[in-house]
Formats: sequence, C-alpha cells, structure tokens
Amino acid sequence: MKPTQPIRALVRVALIAAFVCAAGLPRPIHAETGAEAWLRYPALSPRAARSFDRLPPQTVLLGDSVVVKTAQHELLQGVAQMLGRTLRVGTNSSLENSIVLGTLTDLHGLMPALHPPQDLRADGYWLKSVRIHGAECLIVAGATERGVLYGVFALLSKIARAENLAALDITAIVTDLDELQQPYAPIRWVNQWDNLDGRIERGYGGPSIFFVDGKVRTDLTRAGQYARLLASIGINGCAINNVNAAPGVLEDSFIAQVSRIADVFRPWGVQLSLAVDLGSPKLIGGLDTYDPLDPRVAEWWRKKVDEIYRRIPDFGGFVVKADSEGRLGPSTYGRTHADAANVLARALKPHGGVVFYRAFVYNHHLDWHDVKNDRAKAAYDNFHPLDGSFDDNAIVQIKNGPIDFQVREPASPLFAGLRRTNEAIELQITQEYTGQQRQLCFLVPMWKEVLDFDMHVDANVADARPTPVKDLVAGRIFHRPVGGFVGVANVGMDADWLGSPLAMANLYGFGRLAWDPNLSAEKIINEWTRLTFGSDPLVVKAITALQLSSWQVYESYTGPLGAGTLTNILGNHYDPGPESSEENGWGQWHRADHSGIGMDRTMATGTGFIDQYPPAVQETYESPARCPDNLLLFFHHMPYTYVLHSGKTVVQHIYDSHYDGADHARDFISQWKAIEGHVDEERYRDILARLEYQAAEAMVWRDAICDWIYKLSAIPDGKGRVGSSPSH
Ligand code: GCU
Repeated sequence: MKPTQPIRALVRVALIAAFVCAAGLPRPIHAETGAEAWLRYPALSPRAARSFDRLPPQTVLLGDSVVVKTAQHELLQGVAQMLGRTLRVGTNSSLENSIVLGTLTDLHGLMPALHPPQDLRADGYWLKSVRIHGAECLIVAGATERGVLYGVFALLSKIARAENLAALDITAIVTDLDELQQPYAPIRWVNQWDNLDGRIERGYGGPSIFFVDGKVRTDLTRAGQYARLLASIGINGCAINNVNAAPGVLEDSFIAQVSRIADVFRPWGVQLSLAVDLGSPKLIGGLDTYDPLDPRVAEWWRKKVDEIYRRIPDFGGFVVKADSEGRLGPSTYGRTHADAANVLARALKPHGGVVFYRAFVYNHHLDWHDVKNDRAKAAYDNFHPLDGSFDDNAIVQIKNGPIDFQVREPASPLFAGLRRTNEAIELQITQEYTGQQRQLCFLVPMWKEVLDFDMHVDANVADARPTPVKDLVAGRIFHRPVGGFVGVANVGMDADWLGSPLAMANLYGFGRLAWDPNLSAEKIINEWTRLTFGSDPLVVKAITALQLSSWQVYESYTGPLGAGTLTNILGNHYDPGPESSEENGWGQWHRADHSGIGMDRTMATGTGFIDQYPPAVQETYESPARCPDNLLLFFHHMPYTYVLHSGKTVVQHIYDSHYDGADHARDFISQWKAIEGHVDEERYRDILARLEYQAAEAMVWRDAICDWIYKLSAIPDGKGRVGSSPSH
C-alpha cells in the first residue's frame, strides 16, 4: 500500500535534506569534475601512449593570428598531458616530421599540390596524414582560422579516446588520417540568460561568469575557460546576457566593460553578442520614441552599433525578445516584427553583424475561458505573415516546440512556415522544465526527434524530398544565406559549470549536434563519456545507458502522452503542479477535467493549431488514430477510457507510466552502484547522492500525478495502486 500524503512528504524532506548535505556544499574545482569538463586530457596508459610513437615530434604553425596560435598552444598542452611528450616548435622551412597547422590558403603557399577531397566551407577542417620527403607529417588544415582550431580539438579528442583501441588502430590515427569535417550550418551559438547583477534566469550552476553587482567581473578566467569549451565543440558565438535584457547593457561605459569579455573569447574564435531591449533608444538614448520606423531611432541604432564595433571589431550581433512576456516591442507603434528586426539589421549590416529576432512572442493574458484560444499558435500567427520581409542578416530564432521547452512537444510549425526568411532553432540546454540539473535528463534524443522530424514542405510535389527541421534551419531547403542552431546554456560559476557533472553532456551534445545533426545520440554520449570519465568499458556502458534512457524516464514520471510537464508553472517550474497550468492567461493548458484530458488543437473541432502544419503533417496529427501516442494529449482532448495504440486506456497508461518511470529512476541507483570503484570517489559519491534524490522525487511526482488523475477521472488503477486504498 502507498504511504499516506504526510508520510510521503516527510520521506521527501529527509531525502532532500540528505541530498543537500551531500551535494549542496561548495565543491573545490577539481580536474575530475570541474572546469576542464570533457577537456581533461588525462595521461594515457604507457601502452596506448607508446602506440602514438609515430606522431610527428614537432609542430609547425603557418600564420600568426591569435586563433591559430591558440590552436598550437592547445596541441602542445594536449599532447604533453596525454602522451607525456613535448612537441618541438619548428618553422616552415622544414615541414618534415611535423604536425602542420594552417589555413588552406597558408598551406597552399608551401604545398601547392595539397587539395582536400572537397571544398572546405567556413570553419571546416581537414586532418590528413601525408609524407613529405619520405617523412610522416600530419596536416591540420582549416578553411578559416577557426577551422584550424577545430581541427586541433578533433585530433586531441581522438587521442583522448584512444585508450582502449588496438595498437594498430592507434597508429592509424597518425598514419592514415584523412578526415574532412564541415559544419552543418554557419550559426552555432549559445545564449546565456545572465543578468547584470550576477544572477542567471533559469540558471542552475551558480552565479554569472560574466557579471557581478551590475558590472563585468574583474577576473574573467572562467569566461575564457568557457570559450575554450565552446570552441572545442565548434560553437562560434555567445550572447552573454538575458533575453529579458537590461537596457543599461548598451550604455557606452558598459560596452567598454563588455569588450573585456570579447577579449577573452577572441582567442577561441567565439564571437560575443548582446541581447538588447528594443526600447533602448528611449530608455537610455534620450529619444522620446523607439519606433523602429522613426529615422531618429534608426540613426541612434546606427551610431550605437558603430560604437560597439569600434570597441569590439568582431562583435557578432544582437538577440531580441520583443512584445513577449512584458517586453517592449514594435506593437507600441503599430509596427511589425520585421520593422523592428530590420532597423537593427541595417545598423549591423556594414559590420557583418546579424540580428536574432526571437519568435517566442505570445499573449500571456490569454482568455482561458475561450476554448479556441491557443498559445501554441502564436509564433506562426505572428511571423508567418511576415515571411520575406526580414533583411538577409536577420534570423528568426524559433524554440523547438510551439509552447516553451516542455518535456515533449511537436516541432514548431513555424520551421515550415518561413520560406524567404532565415531561421535558427532555439534549444534549451539548461534543464528548466526537465529537472533543473537536479535530475538526470539527457536531452539529445529529444532534440534529435525534432531535428529529424520531416515537415513535408513539398507535400504536393511528385517526388518530394525529405525536409527535416535540421535542413530547414540550416537554410538548405530554401537556400537561405544564414541559419542554424542556438542553445540556451546558462553555465555558471559552479565548478562543474551546469551544477551537475552529468548535465554537461547536454552542452557537449548541443555543440556536436549543431556541428552535425546527423550524429546519433549513442555516438555523442559515447564520446562525451569517454572524454569525461575515461574508457573503462564498464563505465562507458553504464553511463551511456543511464543517459540514453533518462529523458524518457523523466517524461514517464512527469508528463506522459504530450500533456506537458504538469510542473508548477506559476512557481519554480520544477515540482508537480498540474493545477497551476489551468485557469490563467499563460496558456499552458492541458484542459484536464472529469471527462478527459488534453488540448483539442484539431482543425475540425479544436483551436485549429494543426492547420499551421503542411498537409502531410496535418494528416498525421488531426486524427487520434494516426497521432502518435506520445503526442496524443498535445493535439486532442481524449476521454480517460480512450484506448491507445498500445492497447491501454489513457488513464491506465498514465498510472503505469508513472509507476514504471519511478521504478526506472530507482534502478538508476543500482546501475550506478555497479560501477563503484571504477569512477573516482568524488564523482561517484556526488552522482550517487543525486540519483538517490531523483528516485525520491520520481515517487513524489508519481504520487502527485496519479492522485490528481484519480481525483479527476474517478477511475482506479487496474493494478490496484491508485484509488483502491482506504484513503480513497
Ligand atoms: C521561459 C522562461 C523565461 C524566459 C522565457 C524566454 O518562459 O521561463 O524565464 O524568459 O522562456 O524564453 O524568453
């Protein structure tokens, strides 16, 4: 029999207290858990290190930009730490026996015959073993200087993961290398939601690495280390402040401070950007308007941008959240989002900058009485009519789903709704609605479902090609000049950046997917685990299995069938709070009542949201019979007794899913205990405490949601776990 509510509450308090004691104390920065993350470069075993004997003993750098110098420094450091060897630094007068680093242009000056097998796009790299005068050489060629740096990181990653390979395979890394890698899209950025006072909106890894008390930090060591981590996974831009932007960020005196952050990003090829308040010309600029079509406003932005580039010549651009959740926007003057984006785009254009205009625009005072109202429709309704009116250096930044980073949402229909506009997908690395880093939830499998989702934009064309979201955002379908991937990261000052060592897999995974969304979740997590925990097969197997199952486990004990996370949306976005979604204007409704649960978003009887998708997708979602079970309640209001494809009723699925999910969360503990002694003590204990806490939280979730569903449906659990005890 289940424990009663008060006993459950006590158990929870005790478990949480134990967790806080175990994990909440400040931990020292430690090479195993801390700043190095997946760049630990541990010494290889003598056997593996010996197999690298044919690695050329010296390195030659062509070019002298700060980025290629960084690349060479990184190579020297990585080889020294992992192989215990100091590479000589040679000159370009003798390339024999060298690891040669340079852009293709610089390499051609010395080796005109060297041609990669295909054209290298910006930031791409080519690793190639060649013989020069009979001696083994390794070329790390970049299309750009950043490409050289990325090539070095790729080479070091291979060395770091070589531990368990056969000697011959290791030697091949040196002698048979011929690998060309291109980024999938030019935009691979992170956003940080840091406030100038040092707090981070939806940040769970400590205070800001950039700001403290309204100023840029004096010591920016962590910011530099962060840029290194970002570069190692191919991320080339970072917006450093909250999308709910403080206007003061654009004061000249503040830009002078921000330029110091750009200075520590620059060696790593990471462009700094700022989130800006559209009201700035009025709020800090002394004008009486911020109307984007007023020439004085355009002039203000132009001068402001010129000033920024004077101090930060490689500035990336702006991120804008407007007319959303109380932010000022163009609607004040009856102007469009394109008008607002373009006034910024035109100021940035002469300098090569871009503006990211967020599609996260919705009315948070929606009338919940009206069953035709639907927040999910907002992004498409606002932006689809403007398709074609954004300048070519403006990018519409679209959250993966139509609501707000819930544990499961369909892909936003807006990805298919913009054919003449650049787009980028916004993914949330920080686990706001998915356990806030206190619970394990590896998000790459979820992101891949969205990125791989075929939008069928050509449904009426006879031999329609697949048009997945990843190709739409990369600009490949409609031949857009720019586009790509943005991740909301929110790392902080905590030693392990995100507040949990296992959560760093999400940052790593975001970068790897932004570089190549065709990588499998299995490959990504295998790489990350080996880089972070070493190559002990037992450890790799256990951690990859935990991570790969964690999103579905989290989903199963929180919000099944696409109903949303059912979290407390008015408070911490963490605890169960299904009632909080209803009867308010925020529009995260699940419409659960005594007859059934789910939002009717059909074209036939519901809000008509499904109409925003191309016809082939409409067909899938419009009928409950074709709609996948895992999104059923996102699209349909269903009776509790409706029978799913699985053969279970909706209500029984909810009970079973919550019980199975909580059981799985408990099993995580034994999976982890199986590798005791194979992981360093510090991380072993830390993660064990976290998993024990998560198992307790999963029970709390299970009981809260099952009790709630029983109260609404009055249908007891067929297995006797809910609704059959005397308390009911
Ligand atoms: C979520 C989050 C907010 C954030 C917003 C956004 O709603 O809870 O804190 O400001 O997303 O993406 O703008």
